[in-house]
Amino acid sequence: MFQYELHQKIKTLCLTHLLDIAGPDHAFYLRMIANANTLQELYYSIYGNTNGQSIENPFDNLLALLIETYKQRKPAFKKRDALKEEQGAWFTSNQITGMSLYVDRFAGNLKNMPERLPYLQELGVNFLHLMPLFESPEGESDGGYAVSDFRKIDERFGTLNEFKSLQEKMQAAGMYLMIDIVLNHTSHHHEWAKKAKAGDKKYQDFFYMFDNREIPDQLDATMPEIFPESSPGSFSFVPECNKWVMTVFHHYQWDLNYTNPAVFSAMLENIFFYANLGVDILRIDAPAFIWKQLGTTCQNLPQAHTLLRLIKHCVHIATPGMALLGEAIVAPKEIMKYFGTDAFVAKECDIAYNATQMALQWDALATGDTRVMLAAQHELLQKPLGTTWITYTRCHDDIGLGYDDSMIAAAGFNAYEHRKFLKEYYSGSYPGSPASGALFSVNPKTQDARISGSLASLCGLEKALAGDLNSGLSDAGSNNPAVQTAISKIILMQAQSLLLGGIPMLFYGDEVGYTNDYSYLVDPGKSYDNRWMHRPVIRWEKNDLRKVAGSVEQRIFSATQQLIRLRKSIAAFSDQKNITWLTPHNIHVAGFIRHGEGKHYYCLFNFNSKAAYITWYLFKEQGFAPTEVHDHWTGKKQKVGPDHEYLVMEPYQFAIFELM
Ligand code: GLC
Repeated sequence: MFQYELHQKIKTLCLTHLLDIAGPDHAFYLRMIANANTLQELYYSIYGNTNGQSIENPFDNLLALLIETYKQRKPAFKKRDALKEEQGAWFTSNQITGMSLYVDRFAGNLKNMPERLPYLQELGVNFLHLMPLFESPEGESDGGYAVSDFRKIDERFGTLNEFKSLQEKMQAAGMYLMIDIVLNHTSHHHEWAKKAKAGDKKYQDFFYMFDNREIPDQLDATMPEIFPESSPGSFSFVPECNKWVMTVFHHYQWDLNYTNPAVFSAMLENIFFYANLGVDILRIDAPAFIWKQLGTTCQNLPQAHTLLRLIKHCVHIATPGMALLGEAIVAPKEIMKYFGTDAFVAKECDIAYNATQMALQWDALATGDTRVMLAAQHELLQKPLGTTWITYTRCHDDIGLGYDDSMIAAAGFNAYEHRKFLKEYYSGSYPGSPASGALFSVNPKTQDARISGSLASLCGLEKALAGDLNSGLSDAGSNNPAVQTAISKIILMQAQSLLLGGIPMLFYGDEVGYTNDYSYLVDPGKSYDNRWMHRPVIRWEKNDLRKVAGSVEQRIFSATQQLIRLRKSIAAFSDQKNITWLTPHNIHVAGFIRHGEGKHYYCLFNFNSKAAYITWYLFKEQGFAPTEVHDHWTGKKQKVGPDHEYLVMEPYQFAIFELM
């Protein structure tokens, strides 16, 4: 709708900020005008229209902030914005492969990072998620997710200038960068929290603070606990001001109160601060939690989506090259909503974690049965065009089993028993389980639990290397069959994450098979959180073993490298809603076709410990009539046999068959 007054206001604001709206700033002006109406509606729907009630109109301030942010954006970033806009949904490309890493545990500090870039390039990684770098009190940091200063790089990593210099080097090398905005909470050492503790009412309103337990008790009754073992409940007592404050995560992470427009505008300024550091993708941490309401779980509320849409529109106007990743690790139906719904389809978060698929791969690996995974695809395929997933096998967090009971039931299992088995299998208590992981955040009331452990340890490499899985043969060492099985599982898991569609995000260390690190147990700042077992400190002498033929490191690294190379070489692996899931008539085998440039690639994954038989009819079922299939993974070609004969897949084998 044409809104004369609003558009005139924008024009006047642009001119007073000395923009050349008929010249170089024309595209920005167009983005502003085209989105102004929606922006205003989104803003007013949360914060109301205070125009006329005060001299300072917060919506006008928001418009001015957009203009200022755009003005301050470096010409190099504006140029990159324009290039990305020309490409459209640039993040759906098969050319991007990510890795998530802790700068200190990977390279020591920011200054050392540039010298590690060649290692990443050798692997094929060109996108980095740097785990939180901004100031966070040691011992109460939640791995950096308890931020005490959103603008100051923590001294243990280095300085803001070193960060900027790394960004420049990465950009020059054609690499992309992602960092987090921890939107839901701050550390209790943040300046706002300190002022609130000291009794400053203005800053107490930045948080959810209560004089007594009345409302906290009501909220606690419906809010699920996130860390029931280490931080039960969702409120903490603050003796300094004699109040209760909402702390959904740890007691030292205070939830921000987004009903207060001052909180929104302060956090939006932080978002823009990151955008103007040249960040390509902003990971919005824990967006499901940003709105709270009595009588609800305080997760995934409609207002949380409105706030995300508002942020998306602001970013699109002022710093359009920065895409948004919503870290919503919630039930599959809820995850989908973060891509936007109704008029906002593909206008909320550009990217979300495919946490359901990730967990279901672990499900299939433990059970050898892919039916639950298949049952989930109907839902996951609803993802809109122009958005994408982060596809991954492991990350710094635990593995949650939060997919729907109905998906488990569709595969013929009892949901409670099924999850119980998975928890026992991965924590190693199930008899004969090769996995060495641990249960994370066990809720004694509900028996819910998630799983910690590194990719390698969960796939059995830790036990295999220790000789615990030997069959009594003289086969100790890295050549024993149990080691090979573990490696095959690792590569199978990575292959599915890489080929599925979305930006693959490796977790550092997994490319050379780091097993669990138990040293966190003696660090009081970490011992209460077993997620640290799968966050390794890189020993470069271990990573160097990737150059030693036949070593475990070399076998995993080169297979990962080959997978990345393959994915980049085949256009069908970009994410264009070009996937068809198959029912390969064998419950142990998951399969999908990726379509592109007139070609069809059948990706098949045998999750079983035994060979799997699939009738050749599989390739004809979709209406194709190939005479031969070419496996891009092994390089081998096979003649397609008659319908009643079988293609045989070895245990944990996968294949990428192109039809000939
Ligand atoms: C996200 C992070 C996790 C952190 C939590 C609280 O889920 O990935 O590591 O504990 O947010 O900030």
